[in-house]
Amino acid sequence: MNSISDRLKSVKPSSTLSLSQKASELKAQGHDIISLTTGELDFPTPSWICEAACQTMMQGDMKYTAVGGTPVLKQAIIEKFRRENNLDYKPYEIIASTGAKQSIFNAFLATVGPNDEVIVPAPYWVSYLDIVYLTEGKPIIIDCSQEEQFKISPQALEKSITPRTKWLILNSPSNPTGAIYTNAELEAIAEVLLKYPHVMVLSDDIYEHVRFNSEPFSTIASLEPRLKVRTLTLNGVSKAYGMTGWRLGYAGGPQWLIQAMTSIQSHSTSSPSAISQAAAVAALNGPQTFLEEWNKTLQERRNVVFNEMEQIKEFSCVLPEGAFYMYINCQGVIGKSILKGEIINSDQDFASYLLETYGIAVVPGSAFGLSPYFRLSYATDLPKLRIACERIKKAVSELQM
Ligand SMILES: Cc1ncc(COP(=O)(O)O)c(C=O)c1O
Repeated sequence: MNSISDRLKSVKPSSTLSLSQKASELKAQGHDIISLTTGELDFPTPSWICEAACQTMMQGDMKYTAVGGTPVLKQAIIEKFRRENNLDYKPYEIIASTGAKQSIFNAFLATVGPNDEVIVPAPYWVSYLDIVYLTEGKPIIIDCSQEEQFKISPQALEKSITPRTKWLILNSPSNPTGAIYTNAELEAIAEVLLKYPHVMVLSDDIYEHVRFNSEPFSTIASLEPRLKVRTLTLNGVSKAYGMTGWRLGYAGGPQWLIQAMTSIQSHSTSSPSAISQAAAVAALNGPQTFLEEWNKTLQERRNVVFNEMEQIKEFSCVLPEGAFYMYINCQGVIGKSILKGEIINSDQDFASYLLETYGIAVVPGSAFGLSPYFRLSYATDLPKLRIACERIKKAVSELQM
């Protein structure tokens, strides 16, 4: 018997997670696999953050907390928003969740219903789409080309807004492209949004701290304060502080929305882990200077990988400005054949070929809604990245017309 709900039928399991799982399984079977699929830093969580968590445990502060986060964590989040984003929130405008993913889930479940539309610029982070499907809403996917550096233009945005539009999703720096919206680009988007007061904005800033350009970080609610009443500014400790497994994300937004999100959370997971909340306080209130060192390391890796990929004439890529992903156009391998005679018809075929023949795991662009591309995560040490680049070069050079 199978009594899966209709709601779940349109949802696919996260393809990034399933690919990294396939890579792990092959590795466990003894294959020489380098996985470039992961969405997490390979740096350990800084020691003072772990110590804060240990201290909380030793003190026995491990009971349920307030659903939307402890007052101390909310204060740390408020100060972070004020200090880094020039955004002023009150405690009732803040929620902490079990990962930023849960905050998105809460927000969409609270506001999106059958046939409500959510504008999702493609390429997109895979979960946006499936979360919208889970709410029975309708994702409106807007292709953003390589020429546009994978960013939505104000014209494309305006064309896609209808009376049923509930949300626009912005993600900068972006997963999967590493693109960052400039102030001018965000201002142009804000100008359009001001004309449509029924549209809310999810500003997913989770990669805020992983940036390589010298521009200060911008988020739309701060850049256009008139949009703050309908913007959910989303962030978390996962990507910035090497804390993916701690599961702690947070958001600031209008009171009515935060209240609704908190209500949903109260009936699903309740508060995030008390231990992780204490760790997040230490992360947000503690030293931030190490982030510069981390970014330097990531930038060096990005440069090495970019230079290597640029040498492959079948590929073309845009230099990512942030996050730890590169979104590589692999149009040049489509239609070529592998030694066994099989044709590479899609980025999915190319990703399978790389994994099965050269032990390199990447995520095909089809998972992010824009093909033919693949996403390469460089959150892996440089020696491994160099080997991976060599193998990719060899794999491409062995393809035949
Ligand atoms: C763009 C984007 N937003 C949100 C998240 C969720 O982060 P977390 O739930 O770990 O806080 C991720 C994780 O991969 C992401 O890439």
